[in-house]
Amino acid sequence: MKTSLTGIKPTHIPHIGNYLGAIRPALRLSETFRTAYFIADYHALTTVRDASLLRGWVYDVAATWLACGLDPEKTLFYRQSDVPEVFELAWVLSCLVATGQLERGVAYKDAMARGEVPNAGIFYYPVLMAADILLFDTNIVPIGADQKQHLELARDVASRVNHVYGEGTLVVPEPLIGEAPLVPGTDGQKMSKSRGNTIPLFEGGKKLRKLCLGIVTGSETLEEPKIAEGTAVFEIYKQIASAEKAAEMDAKLRAGGYGWGHAKDELYNAIEAEFAPMRDRFVALRADTDALDATLHRGAAQAREVAQATIRRVRAAVGTGAVG
Ligand code: TRP
Repeated sequence: MKTSLTGIKPTHIPHIGNYLGAIRPALRLSETFRTAYFIADYHALTTVRDASLLRGWVYDVAATWLACGLDPEKTLFYRQSDVPEVFELAWVLSCLVATGQLERGVAYKDAMARGEVPNAGIFYYPVLMAADILLFDTNIVPIGADQKQHLELARDVASRVNHVYGEGTLVVPEPLIGEAPLVPGTDGQKMSKSRGNTIPLFEGGKKLRKLCLGIVTGSETLEEPKIAEGTAVFEIYKQIASAEKAAEMDAKLRAGGYGWGHAKDELYNAIEAEFAPMRDRFVALRADTDALDATLHRGAAQAREVAQATIRRVRAAVGTGAVG
């Protein structure tokens, strides 16, 4: 069975866009692959400067994925910082990556273009990400299109290691770029934390209703026929409700006599119906951080067995450590 691995950066509480675009598809993959999902807390450290916020987001992410159905018996689920072998591999890889390739990194280039003074962690980020992947003999990496370049670098450096030190030293991974559905936020742009247009996954009740009612729409009158396709309300609804329900909403909007307010109410109800059970599980899981730590530690112990085998192989190949 092929191994599929992906990292989740804990920089905010997961929102509906994360669920539809990443969590739900990743959980489906655990039916066809051996899956490994980890919380990339050291990647978050390039931007997060508050220890308790960072630790809190790690628990938020852990509780979210478990509440959404991740089964830690089936999926290797761990916290990056609990697997220190990743840093040893990252160093080895960095000795085979040209600085020019890192200078062409989009995140680094963007930071420079904005006139920021990026820290060395941002520069080195793709190397650490390559180590995350290569440490586990990963075959498949499900990622969003924004991570394509990082995966290219992981593939390049794995091939270079194999070329220099012998074929079979590292597994060269393949990207799996899901046609991640575009999930609009409340302002109609792509839902993202940095735009401040998100609907948090586990918001409920009045706050959720208010967020739904705040979604931008056209200004047609109640009577006018409306086009559903491409509007934020409908695009979110379509991904949560059944296909029949979505077709019904489409027809009602098209027919006229059905307003955006009605559509938003239906969206609110659909979100409640879909996520309320998960929200209850999330609240219970999130309240017990000791239990979350125990789950993550169990995952890390298993992960380290694989990681240590890779490190032994890499040390033998490159000439570090004692022989045998
Ligand atoms: N860079 C990824 C992101 O920002 C997170 C990540 C870290 C990752 N390590 C990884 C993704 C390894 C896939 C594989 O979303």
